[in-house]
Amino acid sequence: MAHHGPLNLHIHPAAGTVGDLAMRRPHAVKVLQRHGIDFCCGGGKALDEACAAVGVGVQTLLDEVTAVENRGQGGQRWDTAPLPALIDHILATHHEGLAEELDRIVAMAERVLTVHGPKDFERLSNLYEVTVQLRADLLPHLAAEETTLFPAVRAANRAAAQAAIAGMVAEHEAVGALLARASELTGHYTVPEGACATWRALWHGLQELDADLRQHIHLENNVLFARLRAEA
Ligand SMILES: [Fe+2]
Ligand SMILES: [Fe+2]
Repeated sequence: MAHHGPLNLHIHPAAGTVGDLAMRRPHAVKVLQRHGIDFCCGGGKALDEACAAVGVGVQTLLDEVTAVENRGQGGQRWDTAPLPALIDHILATHHEGLAEELDRIVAMAERVLTVHGPKDFERLSNLYEVTVQLRADLLPHLAAEETTLFPAVRAANRAAAQAAIAGMVAEHEAVGALLARASELTGHYTVPEGACATWRALWHGLQELDADLRQHIHLENNVLFARLRAEA
């Protein structure tokens, strides 16, 4: 069994890790998503191994990344931007509105369970539980970043920042596991035939939340936290 911990980040100099690729070449995120390669919590995995696991060649994947880059859509590099700018971006793009969105999703999951529970009780009740747990995990996590970690980074208080990130990677992993569960329970967000409007909206909302949280966790684990560790 190969090790995939952070200590092994540089074992594959030719390919590097999935997280490295997503950090250095932000357009890669779209390509990784398309192939179902986890780039946030699984970001420490060697790229060649992650590619092999989904049956795509590393070079094929890199060519696809180049093609997306050549289309020139957005893609900001955060590995060199000042850390306060990265934090501003995380807050504006991923923190703002998340609590309200989680409330909306939990309410929809509850409504779909109430109305359609008898049709598909186990799946819909499990999905409702997953949404409740996601909200319960994320709200204190966002608050901790906003009140502890981010101010420490802005103040260049490295000791405080290091102490704050210790538990956060594990919290991200718990969120990643809940997203995997949501994806599984929804058939990878495939709307069942004849689903009502709320059911559709719930599947769509969860799919967007999944993509948003993966990008969010990637920027924290593989960029912000990695940069803080490298500074230490
Ligand atoms: Fe965050
Ligand atoms: Fe986070």
